[in-house]
Amino acid sequence: MQSQVKDHENYLKSFEMLVANSREHQCMIEFIHTVLPDILARIGAGKNTLNMMGLGSGSGEIDLEILKVLHEKHPDAKIEVEVVEPSYAMLNKYKTSLSKMPGFDYATFSWNEMTAKDFENKLMKENSDKKMHLINMIQMLYYVKDPEATLSFYQSLLHKGGKVLVILLTDESAWARLTKTFQNQLYKDGIVDTLTSGDIKSFLDSKKIPYQNYKLQSLLDITQCFIPGNEKGEQLLSSLTEIIDFGKNAPPELKKEVLDFLKNPENYQEVNNRILFDCSTEALVIDA
Ligand SMILES: C[S@@+](CC[C@H](N)C(=O)[O-])C[C@H]1O[C@@H](n2cnc3c(N)ncnc32)[C@H](O)[C@@H]1O
Repeated sequence: MQSQVKDHENYLKSFEMLVANSREHQCMIEFIHTVLPDILARIGAGKNTLNMMGLGSGSGEIDLEILKVLHEKHPDAKIEVEVVEPSYAMLNKYKTSLSKMPGFDYATFSWNEMTAKDFENKLMKENSDKKMHLINMIQMLYYVKDPEATLSFYQSLLHKGGKVLVILLTDESAWARLTKTFQNQLYKDGIVDTLTSGDIKSFLDSKKIPYQNYKLQSLLDITQCFIPGNEKGEQLLSSLTEIIDFGKNAPPELKKEVLDFLKNPENYQEVNNRILFDCSTEALVIDA
């Protein structure tokens, strides 16, 4: 069984599938337009240039939404955007979408096709004194070897008054329970797929780092996972387990265990004959 994360084309398809079948992006966009504006208004007030960084930006939908709000709150400032994303497939999609969207002439983009760790090493090597007003890490800290060290390093790049925005699955979500239940069988490759917002909150509390937190409720429609041979259901199973062609490549016993987990009434809710799986996230807005 191979992890999807390193297969860029496969991972992009899988990610698009999740976004299309859940409210994950919608609820992030609501948060960006309701809660974030007041927070962003207080960042870098009066500056001519603002610096924003996206780590694991994916194909950029969420980063661009944040960028629009940052601009609305600081209409006279130029915004320099540093994009750090290891997947060429995600970066290509980001660049293509951007090229089709007018109205971003206040922003300049630097593209870094690399992991958060490689970008950290690059900054260290260059002896960079780069400082940021806003750094976001949305649904990406699962994929770094040491999430706390990554967070600490990037938090150290903030200007006074700057913010790091982290979004991760909540402890209470059924998806977090899935990752914890199958962590030894599915989520390997040295990544911390079992990470939740609760782990980061415990870390921040232990370091007495101030933050605000907001729950973002999201459900994923997994009805088709229970129709044998259904193509979309098979793709969703691969997305949930992050295994390439999970249905074909997983041992039958493991496939049965995963389906039994999903079918357990503790792990889903039924609404209008649809089976909905809780993939709620939590946003942490962390101080400098
Ligand atoms: C679940 S997607 C989230 C994408 C985007 N932030 C969003 O919410 O729409 C995770 C992203 O993290 C990226 N990623 C994986 N490993 C990474 C690493 N070590 N450093 C930075 N980004 C990474 C993946 O390529 C992918 O684009």
